[in-house]
Amino acid sequence: MKKQVLTGIKPTGKVHLGNYIGAIKPALELAKNDEFEPSYFVADYHGLTKIHDRDEMKQLSRGIAATWLALGLDPEKAIFYRQSDVPEIFELSWILACFAPKGLMNRAHAYKSVVEDNGVAGRESDHSVNMGLFTYPILMAADILLFKSEVVPVGKDQIQHVEIARDIAESFNHTYGETFVLPTYFIREETSVIPGLDGRKMSKSYQNTIPLFEESKKLQKLINKIKTDSSSPHEPKDPDQSIIFSLYKEFASTAQIKEMREKFSTGIGWGEAKKELFKVMELALEEPRKRYIELMESPDELEEILLRGADKARSKTRPFLLEIKKKIGIM
Ligand code: TRP
Repeated sequence: MKKQVLTGIKPTGKVHLGNYIGAIKPALELAKNDEFEPSYFVADYHGLTKIHDRDEMKQLSRGIAATWLALGLDPEKAIFYRQSDVPEIFELSWILACFAPKGLMNRAHAYKSVVEDNGVAGRESDHSVNMGLFTYPILMAADILLFKSEVVPVGKDQIQHVEIARDIAESFNHTYGETFVLPTYFIREETSVIPGLDGRKMSKSYQNTIPLFEESKKLQKLINKIKTDSSSPHEPKDPDQSIIFSLYKEFASTAQIKEMREKFSTGIGWGEAKKELFKVMELALEEPRKRYIELMESPDELEEILLRGADKARSKTRPFLLEIKKKIGIM
């Protein structure tokens, strides 16, 4: 039996390089490995914890679907779907909620960080916290456990959520016997934090992102904005301390990376380094960007792919949910 690998992306903003390098790229690499059966999805109902505008939700959600496909996810090989099209996930989510200690949710970082921000700002602790945000990890546990996922490729910030899924699964299994597979997270250690334009972690909340499918000219402009130090072109530079180099190595070939390392140690002007970064990125992203734009202009095609994917997904989730319901005495 193939190992199940599963991951989702929630539509809350334009997909940026941090998302791509930290989560999407490793997930796509696993999908190419024949040992794994990938289930990759658009976590639209997770997005609803934040996005409360109809058009924005539609557009962002399509954007995530188009991104997966444009980067080469093959919907014939993978199970590729939109979370909201698989109702069994939400039924399981309730069941799991009844096994999730409230204290565990209190400690979940997405909720905790809002509470902390409220404290700093002198607001009431639960200000702007909806129950979707509070129970976010439970829905994510349902996503993971319903597909018997063994491996969950995620960015570093999602490790805690995978651990919560594991805790809930253990608690259920303890009560009803072996039912859920215990998932493990998969992160690429070397790229677990992708620096943004200012050198801090690339994140929408810092407004330091480079959108993955930014149009050529704008991409070039953004690259030119990357923060550098004031060393002169001939001074040796440490590639491992450079934002430019850490992005460069995600798109360049092994030979190019080696060459760039040498240039850094003998001295390279930041302007030239930025040019080289733009070149490799443009080469790698030009085709996917075209495909992305095409897909965004054909919502019907996207819809058809997603609905077919949901059918495939449900042929697994329906019987498994039934089994679970029998175990708890609901059927
Ligand atoms: N919470 C994840 C994120 O913000 C998205 C997500 C939802 C997810 N369900 C998942 C990731 C299940 C992995 C597995 O990035």
